[in-house]
Parts: sequence; C-alpha cells; structure tokens
Amino acid sequence: MPTNFDEIIDRRGTSCLKYDFAAERGYPQDILPFWVADMDFRAPQPILDELSRRVAHGIFGYTDPKDTYKDVLLNWFRTHHNWTPSAESLVVTPGVVFALCTAIRAFTQPGDGVLIQQPVYYPFTESIVDNGRQLVNSPLVEKGGHYSIDFADFEHKIRTGNVKLFLLCSPHNPVGRVWTKAELLKIADICTRHEVLIVADEIHHEFVRAGYHHTVLASLSLQIANRVITCTAPSKTFNLAGLQLSNIFIENDSLRRKFKHELAATGYSQPNCLGLFAAQAAYEHGEEWLCKLRAYLEDNYQKTKKFLQQELPLVRLIEPEGTYLLWLDFSAYGLSAKELDDRIIHKANLWLDSGHIFGPAGEGYQRINIACPWATLKDGLEHLAAAFRD
Ligand SMILES: Cc1ncc(COP(=O)(O)O)c(C=O)c1O
Repeated sequence: MPTNFDEIIDRRGTSCLKYDFAAERGYPQDILPFWVADMDFRAPQPILDELSRRVAHGIFGYTDPKDTYKDVLLNWFRTHHNWTPSAESLVVTPGVVFALCTAIRAFTQPGDGVLIQQPVYYPFTESIVDNGRQLVNSPLVEKGGHYSIDFADFEHKIRTGNVKLFLLCSPHNPVGRVWTKAELLKIADICTRHEVLIVADEIHHEFVRAGYHHTVLASLSLQIANRVITCTAPSKTFNLAGLQLSNIFIENDSLRRKFKHELAATGYSQPNCLGLFAAQAAYEHGEEWLCKLRAYLEDNYQKTKKFLQQELPLVRLIEPEGTYLLWLDFSAYGLSAKELDDRIIHKANLWLDSGHIFGPAGEGYQRINIACPWATLKDGLEHLAAAFRD
C-alpha cells in the first residue's frame, strides 16, 4: 500500500516519546509536539510486510546479521553514496548515541578533550560529560543565515584542549548544513595532523535537499577512512527509531577491535531481531518510499517558509541544506531564553526543542521538526503565529 503522507495517524496512547510524555516532562498535557526527531509517518510497506511475516513466525530468539544483510547495506551505500566500506568494517549497535558513547570510552581517557561544534545535537554534550571527558567547543559561525566552520579556532581548540576525538555531525543538526567536500577535507587534514580520531555521525545523510550533496567523510580516501568511525542508521531515514539498530563502520582493524571490546563491556552482543529484519527490508526495498518522503518534506519546507514570511516575518528561518529539522531565530523579539520558552509552551501550546539546549549559541532559537502531515504542521504554525501576533 503506498504511503499517504497526508494521513494523520493518532500516535497518542502508543507510549511514544513525542506525544505521550508531555505531563511527565513538565509540559501541558494537550501540547502539540514538534520536538524529537522522529516522523509521524507510517514506515514503508515492505518493512511492515517483513515485520508481519516475522511476527507470524512467532519466535524472537537471538539473531545476528548474516552476509545477506551486509550485502544489502553495502549495495545501498555504494549506489547512494558512492562509498564502498568493507563488510568486515560493520559493527551493529542499538543506537547512534550508544555508539558515540562507546567510541568516547574506547578511544579516550577520562579527562581527555572531545571536540564538538555547538550549536549541536545535545546528546553530543551529554555523551562527553557523562563519560567524564572534557567538552571542547569550537562554535560554528553564523553569518547572514549561513553557518560555517572557523578552521583557525577548530585547530586552536584541538591544539590547546588535549583533544583526542572529534564528534562531527554531518549533515549538521540543528543548523542544517550539509558539509562540502572541501570542508570535510579541511577537517580531516587538521584532525590527521593532530592525531585526532573522528566519529562522523551521518544519521541524517538521506535528508539532503536538491542542490546539495552529502559526502561520506570516510569515502574521501583510505587514509581518512582509517581514522573515522562512521555512524549510520535506518532509524531516521525510514522512521524506525524504536527498533533500535544502527550500523557503524570502522575500517581500521585496531580501532574496530577497541570499539568492539568496549561494546562487549557494556554487555551488548546481538541486535534486536525485528530491528535487523526491518533494516534489511528498508535498504532493500525502501528507496521508492524515501523518494516520495523527500518530496513531501520539501513541500512542507516550502509551505513553512512561505507561512513564516507572511505571518511571522520577524522569525528568521535558517535555510536548511539537509535534515527535516528547521532552526528558527526568534532573537528579534528580544525575549530571554526563558521568556521565549514560556511564550512557545504556554501561549502557543507548542513543544519545540529550545535552542539553548544545543549550546549557548542556540539561545534565542528554537528547533522545529517538520516531518509530519502538512495539516498537523499548519496547525502548529498557526498556534505559533497567534502567540507572537498579540
Ligand atoms: C545527529 C543525531 N545523531 C543521533 C541521533 C539519535 O540516534 P539514536 O536514536 O540511534 O541514538 C539523532 C536523533 O535525533 C540525531 O539527530
């Protein structure tokens, strides 16, 4: 059955994080949520069919990826990203954040510096701090609505911050940058010269707008691949986050051994069987759905942009190159972070991700997830406009 992206599917009462935990998290019970990065769309039909088959089989014992799983995955990356990782490089984890934390423990010592570029996906910060490492921040620089890397600062922070590992967000959440090949080569050059390993979180790599191109960092050269841990997952692409399966590629044997050793120390061994089956079906049969999804998201983006221009001209929309998350600048209203949150939560009755949680540079911003039926999004935008109109 083809997916109707306009269909509103009631997610309430399914224990979903997005809709069912407002009261527990201190928000009004009936708030409209546009925060966490999953989608209000049903997964592709071939995945649902595969899961139905597996449920009908009725046995959910221990499961591990076979060669066929790896073949399907490698074929996807070869055809979609011109990237040919080896089958041996694959390590499966229950999530990308799980992999970030594992890498931090595997490749750094307590007290070592781990570099990030704020504003950035907030679990980057948590994974460093919670594991007792030093957070080193080289903030992105925003000019005229475009974020870029201050490479002099990036290198300076590496030199002075005892940095051993860099967490790259590519494409970047929340600012929506799709890093160019030239930027990635510069990053790799600096990190190589200072012997800094790179964890490339490329979870958003299928959401790149027309005119932009995602380059897998590890595809740039064998030398670069040798120092990179590439994090991918079907969770964002095919809306499977609750099935908890990520595919991590580590080409360097010694790094992979260390990573696997740390993974084993957490007690993790085999993946969730339904996650594994769903992932294989996704990468084997999900392309058509994904193309339609991308078109729908672009449409949502264009309508949102138009709405903001007409109804909320003081809100500055940072034009995204990728992801389905929009980064909105409310600083023209002159509100403090708390006043802005209060207005959005209590006047607009909207649950967005507040900018300051992405780092101090996010103050005055809010992140909104547009991966939902347009009717739902329009309703949210109308709430927003009403709260800022009077
Ligand atoms: C950049 C980034 N990395 C990782 C994740 C989460 O990945 P996982 O659920 O596999 O831990 C997200 C989800 O929003 C994300 O935006």
